[in-house]
Amino acid sequence: MEYLVKRSAITSEKSACAIVAIFANKRLSDEAQQLDKLYRGILSSASKNGDISGNLGETLLLHTPKTANHKRILLVGCGKPNGLDILKYRKILNSCINTLKSTGSADAISTLTTLTVKDQSVQSLTRMHILLTENIFYKYDQTLSKKKTPNKLKRIKFSCSQASQLKHIKLGIVQGKAIADGMMVTKELGNLPANVCTPNYLAKTAQGIKKGQGKLSLTVLGEREMKKLGMGSLLSVSAGSVEPAKLISLQYRGTARNSKPVVLVGKGITFDTGGISLKPGAGMDEMKFDMCGAATVLGTMQAICDMGLPLNVVGLVAAAENMPGGKATKPGDVVTSMSGQTIEVLNTDAEGRLVLCDALTYAKRYDPDVVIDMATLTGACIVALGHEASGLMSNSDKLSNDLLEAGQSTGDRAWRLPIWDEYQSQLDSNFADIANIGGRWAGTITAACFLARFTKEYKWAHLDIAGTAWYQGKNKGATGRPVPMLTEYLMRRARTA
Ligand code: BES
Ligand code: MN
Ligand code: ZN
Repeated sequence: MEYLVKRSAITSEKSACAIVAIFANKRLSDEAQQLDKLYRGILSSASKNGDISGNLGETLLLHTPKTANHKRILLVGCGKPNGLDILKYRKILNSCINTLKSTGSADAISTLTTLTVKDQSVQSLTRMHILLTENIFYKYDQTLSKKKTPNKLKRIKFSCSQASQLKHIKLGIVQGKAIADGMMVTKELGNLPANVCTPNYLAKTAQGIKKGQGKLSLTVLGEREMKKLGMGSLLSVSAGSVEPAKLISLQYRGTARNSKPVVLVGKGITFDTGGISLKPGAGMDEMKFDMCGAATVLGTMQAICDMGLPLNVVGLVAAAENMPGGKATKPGDVVTSMSGQTIEVLNTDAEGRLVLCDALTYAKRYDPDVVIDMATLTGACIVALGHEASGLMSNSDKLSNDLLEAGQSTGDRAWRLPIWDEYQSQLDSNFADIANIGGRWAGTITAACFLARFTKEYKWAHLDIAGTAWYQGKNKGATGRPVPMLTEYLMRRARTA
């Protein structure tokens, strides 16, 4: 999709579909009033006749006379004027874009980036508009024999009546495109089947992202190198698989060398059978999504590169396949992590923390300012928070609040859970320094408490995205979360939001 902005009155534009707002009590927005005048009251009579009242998310499609410059007018209910927040705004956009998609329009002009929304700039509304549009028009067809028919809609123009808004919308378009493209990377990787998307495929994808980007450098460690570094924990996960594990490191240098980087770490289990602690069969296919943390790191790295953010960021991906097999790790096996701590693997299905702990130890070599890991780590997180919020656990209140706010303002929300020391005893082992499972209760927290033993030397946050990384059921597929939260956090750090 192409996005552009033009400073002109909506009445002088030509378009297959003009999108304008109507507020509660049938009040038309300025642009809607202009069109109403041009088309002899078709908007106001539609509302007078009771076809639309302006309630949040209502839509009404109006057809203009044959010779008109605007083939259609899409009226969108925006609720109380000045009563909008980001969640309501998203609701409006979603219903409006879905209606637009159902038409044959090849292009549209939208006035919705200049609505007044609490705590949001025109620039961020433009980003949101693009993200939601790309999300609704996204189609997966990489592994279908017949490709899906391309979307009819090719172009959205954002209307802009004030000169002062022009540069903000322009910047919002560049950023929105970059973030949406990054989410596309995340979704495609998530949706690809595990016989295609292997650890090696993730490494190849990182190579593709690096190509032509002068500010990126890439290193990929194979199993031999990881063994030399003492990553016995990570390697215990790939032991049963014929697919070798990879530790992928993409380094983005966007500012001075001495500026400490943000390190992003992603769980990249390209398929999680559970290993010897084999999972039950029902729904096991969804464990191809167990690399969505890794996919988020790669998508985010591409997005910040495209935006050219003035920051240093390192993206680390711990990629492995968790399979049973003759060489697989067994319950009760004791492995030694890169940190030197020994781990009793009581359940081979708690493998995410085993790959992450070595990646988190490895992260120290970048002298990070903060480290943020993303992982589809625990089913318990879905029990606790459902599919709305990602679980957030952190040893830093500041980092935690920054991420919560970035999530709030992008509609990609997280909710914090405690990782108090009192939970740590659940991980006691008789045969090693630590066990890899903490029993029945507070499974999301004890998983994070396990990671916390490896992150004491820096500020760290952990996002459990088990409930938010993909949709289940009829719309099964990756969501691209939490790319919006992370890119927002990074943009705010770079003061470019
Ligand atoms: N990848 C799973 C977590 C998961 C399960 C995410 C279902 C999304 C949906 C993880 O590796 C896992 O198997 N966790 C176990 C941990 C347990 C053995 C302590 C779980 O959640 O059951
Ligand atoms: Mn598992
Ligand atoms: Zn897993």
